[in-house]
Amino acid sequence: MTNLTFKINRAFDFAAQQLRRLIETQPDYFPMYTQNGKWKHGGEAWTNWCEGFLGGQLWLLYERTREDYWRAQAEHYSRLIEHRRTDRNVHDLGFLFWSTYKRWYDLTGDPAIKKVVVQAGQTMGLRFKARGQYLRSFVADESLFIDIMMNVGIIFYAAQQTGDADLLRKATQHCLTTRKYFVRGDGSTSHEGIFDLNTGEFLRQTTHQGYRNDSSWARGLTWALYGFGTAYSFTRDARLLQTAEACANFYIERTPANGVPPNDWDEPNPGSRYESSAAAIAAGGLWNLAQLTGDAARARLYRDYALTILDTLTEPEFLAIDTPGWEGILKHGCYHQRKGLGVDESVMWGEYFFLEALSKAERAVN
Ligand code: GLY
Repeated sequence: MTNLTFKINRAFDFAAQQLRRLIETQPDYFPMYTQNGKWKHGGEAWTNWCEGFLGGQLWLLYERTREDYWRAQAEHYSRLIEHRRTDRNVHDLGFLFWSTYKRWYDLTGDPAIKKVVVQAGQTMGLRFKARGQYLRSFVADESLFIDIMMNVGIIFYAAQQTGDADLLRKATQHCLTTRKYFVRGDGSTSHEGIFDLNTGEFLRQTTHQGYRNDSSWARGLTWALYGFGTAYSFTRDARLLQTAEACANFYIERTPANGVPPNDWDEPNPGSRYESSAAAIAAGGLWNLAQLTGDAARARLYRDYALTILDTLTEPEFLAIDTPGWEGILKHGCYHQRKGLGVDESVMWGEYFFLEALSKAERAVN
């Protein structure tokens, strides 16, 4: 057994233990971030975008173990969010349904389950602003978030499954607008962009969770790295692959050798040293890019870098295995530094993308 195989097994066993405790002690509760390592608290949500990540982890455990317990829990926590397929208040239906119903459909081929995924994608498509050619964020009509790149995949899927050319055009245009105004010459990304609603003119780059409007919030960059790769896999539009690779190169150039960035690369005094959820997302996105790029040397670089990240995140410095009383799996994540939410804590999407990246690596090393 290689060291990485040992560490992946250990991480999954620990994840199963933590998740079983969570769902048995707090049934039907959807946590977002920990406070002092505890999931249940009265802290602000800001926006409701995380309800798919618990079911998503349960599906990942079922895919790995094929145990009925995880299957029943995964179905239960997926069903609890089914009504969100028509939710027009958030730009996050990809996060909710790709991690749950899409996994469920891939396992079963059940058309009723696919219908939920397609409807969620169609709902996301309703966010499209013709003036400006983008999908609006949850904040306002004039606002576009980089995070939406990670949710646009479900629109491509809905368009593909229904043969809806207009939906396909909207998803593609959103990606090209984001590419044009958010991804800078060095591959760094803006978090938010503001448009003129009357003319569609792009006005300025802004941020909510990063250090400054002209800096690069790490998780946002990893949403772009991963999301542009997904968009390329649907469209085969070379511009989208080139953008994903530009983001990947920025990440690799600017991040310490252990593969874990701070919340924002430009911040002189970060609230905490690490943003581990960004690293987990980067690992999964780089793993995908290694399959998508046409260049063998870059494929090797992305794959090796993803493995470096996972090697780091499976050490007890990040994996909470030696931290008594800690309820999460992965420590040192960050939700919203400016608001003081979930800083240096476990975060639900970090847990999900960590397990997802471990699954990809496990399938390849075994
Ligand atoms: N709002 C999504 C995120 O914090 O990444």
